[in-house]
Amino acid sequence: MNDLKSKIEAAADAVRSICDRTPRVAVVTGTGLGGLAEAVNAEAVIPYAEIPHFPPPTAPSHRGRLLLGELNGASVAVLDGRFHSYEGYTLAECTFPIRVVRALGAETLVLTNAAGGLNPSFELADTMLIEDHIDFLSGNPLTGPNDDSLGPRFPDMYEPYDRGLMAIAREEASAGGMTLRDGVFVAVPGPNLETRAEYRMLRGFGADVVGMSTVPECIVAKHCGMKTLAFSVVTDLCDPERLEPVDIAKIIATAERGGAALSKLLQRVIPRL
Ligand code: HPA
Repeated sequence: MNDLKSKIEAAADAVRSICDRTPRVAVVTGTGLGGLAEAVNAEAVIPYAEIPHFPPPTAPSHRGRLLLGELNGASVAVLDGRFHSYEGYTLAECTFPIRVVRALGAETLVLTNAAGGLNPSFELADTMLIEDHIDFLSGNPLTGPNDDSLGPRFPDMYEPYDRGLMAIAREEASAGGMTLRDGVFVAVPGPNLETRAEYRMLRGFGADVVGMSTVPECIVAKHCGMKTLAFSVVTDLCDPERLEPVDIAKIIATAERGGAALSKLLQRVIPRL
């Protein structure tokens, strides 16, 4: 058995030995989205440190635990805390948890993140449905030998984010009276934020928000046959003409404000996925 597959199975076996629930939907909580975990009726809360081959998260405001339980009747796995390449992990390491929740049975992945707003009509704490993405990360989580039993060598990116799931999210946002933006997410490696010239370039390339995560997880989800739905919370405004020095505490506070609204939306959306 190849190395990646045996690691996935070791991690999934360790989780199953604690809780044998089969999740249908897996959720990754980005900065500010920790509140969603509180809404889960958890059957098990497993620190990442107890799951073989999970790296310990180092990013501020990211917890590191896997919750298994129910969210408004839906069987869910919540990856509460994610891994970023700027922490020093390879993209394959960053996305390992996605492969594990897939091995546990999850068929749908919901990704959330904090991002900078490039679209001038966006406001602080807005939520954006990610319709498509641009990948400016260095590297790819699928680099290396491909295990055909995990997924295809050349996964297509025809529909990285599932249109049917997006329709459900739009319906529920509208029913709940919530403004839901939509647009393109561009992923950059970080950890520094961007220069004015870079924000101008990213906007010129057609991106609406910029962040340091999500795209590798979407690629791996596509590789292993999961449907993906993803959201960004706008935490800072990246207008090159009116750029202000970034205050990370302010970004986290804005992420928490926007995250509370997104968490409410997800509680309506997830049971329908
Ligand atoms: N750039 C990159 N990542 C981010 C930003 C940003 O402006 N804001 C939040 N995450």
